[in-house]
Amino acid sequence: MRIVVCESPEQVAEVAADESIEYLGLACASTAKNPESTVLGLATGSTPLGLYQKWIERFRSGEISFRNVVSFNLDEYCGVPPEDPQSYHYFMQGNLFKHIDILPQNTHIPHTNSDDLPASAEAYEIAIAQAGGIDLQILGIGSEGHIGFNELGSSFSSATRVKTLTSKTRQDNARFFASLEQVPKMAITMGLGTIMNARAVLLLATGLHKAQTIRDTVEGPVTAMVPASILQFHPNATLILDAAAASKLAHLDYYLECERNQQSL
Ligand code: F6R
Repeated sequence: MRIVVCESPEQVAEVAADESIEYLGLACASTAKNPESTVLGLATGSTPLGLYQKWIERFRSGEISFRNVVSFNLDEYCGVPPEDPQSYHYFMQGNLFKHIDILPQNTHIPHTNSDDLPASAEAYEIAIAQAGGIDLQILGIGSEGHIGFNELGSSFSSATRVKTLTSKTRQDNARFFASLEQVPKMAITMGLGTIMNARAVLLLATGLHKAQTIRDTVEGPVTAMVPASILQFHPNATLILDAAAASKLAHLDYYLECERNQQSL
């Protein structure tokens, strides 16, 4: 695990854009760094918005291209059709896809408008495998430590599946809806096993309200009660935090020294 601490959410976005650049096609196709194709795992929520804005700016300036990118989003609410402004389909279109050159057929978000949700989840996991697996997974983190919608108690080996949301997650996400009652009770989410199969993971967290869960994720025991703590076992996980989100880490000075020495923990 690497812990990168930034002064502000703006700098978190900038550093995350820098860290992800090798996974994106450079606009100049002749450079050796241009990957033939990259599979990105994407997140929704407030936290990655700054990163998506940086990607859009860098795309517009001609620095990067998403022409060879295939994307798989972490999750989608059940019972919310893709054209609904509360859906993650709608979120991704508005906040990223329509602003860049990713091919629509290369973007994937779980289908939750199916009569057979378990089959839809299973098909999603198969599609990720058929694409060659995820090269870089972008993650936010819930206030109780969920990644994707892997709520507390999620099996460490779980694959994409239908998941019931906790009341805390529904309360946290109620800010996007007119009322708490309108927040869906279920979602299809990639599993912890799916996320752990990603070759690299970038988890972003900003704000004091994430400080305790970041502490539990990095310094607590690895436990299904804090699903993100499984990232302690990931061989290539980087946490990019602002100072507020990092503020409860007991050994922060040591992590910063390791980062200066270009060492993972
Ligand atoms: C979103 C997702 C969630 C969010 C998490 C944090 O696709 O899977 O795990 O990353 O709930 O949300 P924000 O960034 O809004 O605090």
